[in-house]
Amino acid sequence: MTASLSTDVTENLKQTASRQPLGARVGIPPRRVAMNLEDTRSKHWYADDAFLTAYWSAFSVLLPEGEQFFVRAVKHYRDQITDEDLKAGIAGFIGQEALHTQGHQVLNAYIENHKLPAERLEKQLRFLLDTVGKIHPRLNLAATICLEHFTALLGEQLLAEQDHHDAINTDVRPLWMWHALEETEHKAVAWDVYQQTGGSYAVRVATMGLTTVILGAVMAYATASILQADGKLFDVRNNARGFLSLFGRQGRMTRLLPKFLDFFKPGFHPNDHDTNALVAEWRERLFGVDGEISHLVKGAKSLH
Ligand SMILES: [Fe+2]
Ligand SMILES: [Fe+2]
Repeated sequence: MTASLSTDVTENLKQTASRQPLGARVGIPPRRVAMNLEDTRSKHWYADDAFLTAYWSAFSVLLPEGEQFFVRAVKHYRDQITDEDLKAGIAGFIGQEALHTQGHQVLNAYIENHKLPAERLEKQLRFLLDTVGKIHPRLNLAATICLEHFTALLGEQLLAEQDHHDAINTDVRPLWMWHALEETEHKAVAWDVYQQTGGSYAVRVATMGLTTVILGAVMAYATASILQADGKLFDVRNNARGFLSLFGRQGRMTRLLPKFLDFFKPGFHPNDHDTNALVAEWRERLFGVDGEISHLVKGAKSLH
């Protein structure tokens, strides 16, 4: 984690200890959820399935580096923002993403402990993002709103589809449900920063084309690398079945296509996908009194 990111986490945690965090005022409270997978034994933590575990593990492996990239991209433009609500939203966004990084580092260490190549993949992604990140700050922010569109759609889907969240091992599930909720809470922050600092439609859609291709290639490579290390790369029947469950005609990813394509509408805004009821339901369910994971929250319990 970078020094500046640590500073932001510290700032947010200080706010948590002393008063309501800035982000909480606009519905984006950073929550520090303690993850512990030391006693977990299941190698295939998603649906007891090697392919689907490799796919979602690949996604988890990309998240710490990816989310630190998002934070850097938004921070670059933070001083240009004058809207007080958006400034509070940025504080919440930075705090939430920094804490997601910590949560996924626990899962990624768990993946590595099963002799799957989490560290190597993280290192390769870091090189890619450091290289791409030098091109232009505007491109970094445009890529961030593209990738936040993906995380918003994936988060909403995970909250909404019971068979999806039920498929995750109960030890690993809190991380994903917490993360899914917060991606949904902060889905408009990077978008609004992009809009309020003069981001154009042309750059947004061009970047989405490029980002989709790169993300697809990176996910395919990371999934294949994990399957290979797991000795399952040539389990053709199971891999084909898992792939079709995601990308087949009624596949989980395929069903996201209409909402994905909304990104290309000139007047689109992330809040056009109304997730208020879903967010309210899951805040209560996870972090309310007697919430499923409220006992894992460190610090103030008033953050739900
Ligand atoms: Fe996140
Ligand atoms: Fe995010």
